[in-house]
Amino acid sequence: MDDRIAWVIERCRLLRAIGDELDETRPFAGLTIGTGIHLEPKTVALILTLQRGGADLVSTGNLNTTQQDACDYLAGRGVRIVGGPTSDAAEHDAFLWEVVRSQPDLLLDNGGDLFARALDEPWDGLRGGTEETTSGRARLEPLRDRLRLPILVINDSPIKQFAENEHAVGQSVLESFMRITNLSTNGKRVTVFGYGSCGRGVAANFRNAHAVVAVVERDPVKRLQALLDGFLVPERDAALRQADVVITVTGAPGVVTAADAPLFKPGAILANAGHVPWEIEADGLASAGVTVLTGGHMVNLAGPRPLGNSIESMDLGFTLQARCLEAVANGSVDATACVVPVPAAIDDLVASTYVALVDGGRHSSRSSSAP
Ligand SMILES: NC(=O)c1ccc[n+]([C@@H]2O[C@H](COP(=O)([O-])OP(=O)(O)OC[C@H]3O[C@@H](n4cnc5c(N)ncnc54)[C@H](O)[C@@H]3O)[C@@H](O)[C@H]2O)c1
Repeated sequence: MDDRIAWVIERCRLLRAIGDELDETRPFAGLTIGTGIHLEPKTVALILTLQRGGADLVSTGNLNTTQQDACDYLAGRGVRIVGGPTSDAAEHDAFLWEVVRSQPDLLLDNGGDLFARALDEPWDGLRGGTEETTSGRARLEPLRDRLRLPILVINDSPIKQFAENEHAVGQSVLESFMRITNLSTNGKRVTVFGYGSCGRGVAANFRNAHAVVAVVERDPVKRLQALLDGFLVPERDAALRQADVVITVTGAPGVVTAADAPLFKPGAILANAGHVPWEIEADGLASAGVTVLTGGHMVNLAGPRPLGNSIESMDLGFTLQARCLEAVANGSVDATACVVPVPAAIDDLVASTYVALVDGGRHSSRSSSAP
């Protein structure tokens, strides 16, 4: 595993570049950053980059996606790891509370778990932070009046939308389906629930892998978009009846429930790629005989040997994270930036740096063996 982490860290080229800068500028000197994001090799690269900027880190993972080797690697480098892998919601809740009760100066949140708890037990000194996901933005938006802190939503950067949600989630969900099931996609009827940025990528990648793809989307405009992109757009129940594989990626609760079990073909496979397992009623559907992958937890992060999204996409997203936390730490954004997208100047900087690194590195012969 250490080989894999080293491989990831070496290929997070943007994070390595910003880390060299943070060694000098130390924007987080004297500050503690609390994190509640999946702990796996790419987040290791992010957390160690923040540490290079002078931060103390207190970190826990997310439900059912924490990798023990990543925790051990970070703990060995001075990061305070709270808890470890768990699929027990009550245990995970206690881990999140422990991070919050350490009263960090900045929070790097994923799903709104840390900021929502910070409201229940506020402390002086919390400057603000970042939120990674669509689901977290939806949870924190109604709390703006109470939060009154700069909180930058990484998901709402156009870079995250196209680099991670569309391209990378689509690729990693396809990769995870094939790795977990060892089944082909050719000629399979695949139904994708949700045609947002993630759903577009999932639908496109399965089509590119020779599946016959249908999209179920509750927004009529996006349903039209799916149709014009060349996908089938049957009514919901018909889409479930015809599917060999069903994938939800909406961020919404109760998208497919146990009451839908009679609609499934014998042998049909169901997976969720949305942030929260609540999209599908995994236990009820499994009891009714539907094959549910990874217990309804994110299929690209929770299965055996999970790889998650590609290194390059996460390098981009995590560099946005580091730059946004830097902006909150040095006061260049204030409480008027409460649950708002990444500032355009940060998007421009990260995009230009990536293009320069890739173009500048085209003729480099640097290489190492894959883990
Ligand atoms: N697995 C990963 O690696 C990963 C990465 C990024 C985001 N996510 C998660 O994926 C989910 C989707 O993200 P997104 O950026 O595509 O969001 P989005 O808001 O762009 O798209 C979601 C779409 O789902 C549709 N929808 C909602 N309820 C529906 C229903 N019942 N039936 C059909 N369609 C429905 C909405 O109309 C919308 O078009 C979120 O939970 C997000 O946090 C997962």
